[in-house]
Amino acid sequence: MALILAIESSCDDTSAAVLRNDRILSNVIASQKVHEQYGGVVPELASRAHQQNIVPVVDAAISNAGISRSDIDAVAFTRGPGLLGSLLVGVSFAKGFAQAFDRPLIEVNHLQAHVLSHFIKESDDSVVPQFPFVCLLVSGGHTQILLLRSHFEIEVLGQTIDDAAGEAIDKAAKIMDLGYPGGPIIDRLAAQGNADAFHFATPHIPGFDYSFSGLKTSFLYFLRDQLAENPDFIEQNKADLCASIQKCIVDFLLGKMERAVKKCGARQIAIAGGVSANSLLRSSLQQMGQRHGWKVFIPKFQYCTDNAAMVGIAGYFKYLRGEFADISLPPFAR
Ligand code: KG4
Ligand code: ZN
Repeated sequence: MALILAIESSCDDTSAAVLRNDRILSNVIASQKVHEQYGGVVPELASRAHQQNIVPVVDAAISNAGISRSDIDAVAFTRGPGLLGSLLVGVSFAKGFAQAFDRPLIEVNHLQAHVLSHFIKESDDSVVPQFPFVCLLVSGGHTQILLLRSHFEIEVLGQTIDDAAGEAIDKAAKIMDLGYPGGPIIDRLAAQGNADAFHFATPHIPGFDYSFSGLKTSFLYFLRDQLAENPDFIEQNKADLCASIQKCIVDFLLGKMERAVKKCGARQIAIAGGVSANSLLRSSLQQMGQRHGWKVFIPKFQYCTDNAAMVGIAGYFKYLRGEFADISLPPFAR
């Protein structure tokens, strides 16, 4: 039996969680509102907010779990990738906590944590994926099709050669002046729009790789041409624009994933990362699974965007293997 305290601070969410083995006891997330007015994450402000949040967030996670600090057996933390200043706050806190209570440290890779979020159990009958399975990891910083043969044997089948899917969505929202982060806003507006109103082409990239930077540019040029004729074009077509760009990105993501799954012969599929909160992506993945008879795993919303529960589950699997980190370990940005 192991009680794991987990800490996540790689971007703009300060989060702490407590797990008993693979069972979640608490997961506290403090999202930083300060960045909204700047239309993107300001690294310096993010690390300052982490400094303010980290102690109350960890305290809340421990008390929500109904345990005391000295009960913790090991401390897992996100080592990277992420913003260096943000990571430093979580890494330093984890080291301080581990040293104060003389407990081992476990370093966790943020991307691996997103993927392993599917193994978090909320009850005895939680169902988890069986190996091998294919997971599409889609976040603000990463877009990868991964083949998991075990918790730690992960093969990259394809990935973006430039922008991430979340980045493309956030940029489209920014071009339309919708606010930040754009993903949830586009998702909400798209629900009222016609996804076939406009057509945006995705590039032909060989194999299972993606590219999103051209899409952003063609979207920008398309709007510029339309606005030259009608200054109210965006305002009048907001929902249709959101629905169309969302469909374009989701079709691109799942089209490649479908071919990758067929090629490697896996029978179980999953999505992870912030963009996996997208309602069209979730429903389309479900349909794709039904079409082929593949078992589908979609994370609960609280485990899609950045959270410490996923760091805790990755930490638990490393704990079982006795993979502990040295106190001198620095964070890494990429
Ligand atoms: O995993 P995450 O929280 O942070 C990174 O590790 O990058 O992902 C954040 C990304 C942002 O681009 C955000 O716009 C996107 O996830 N996102 C969404 C939705 N919710 C968050 N994208 C589309 N639809 C959503 N509902
Ligand atoms: Zn993330």
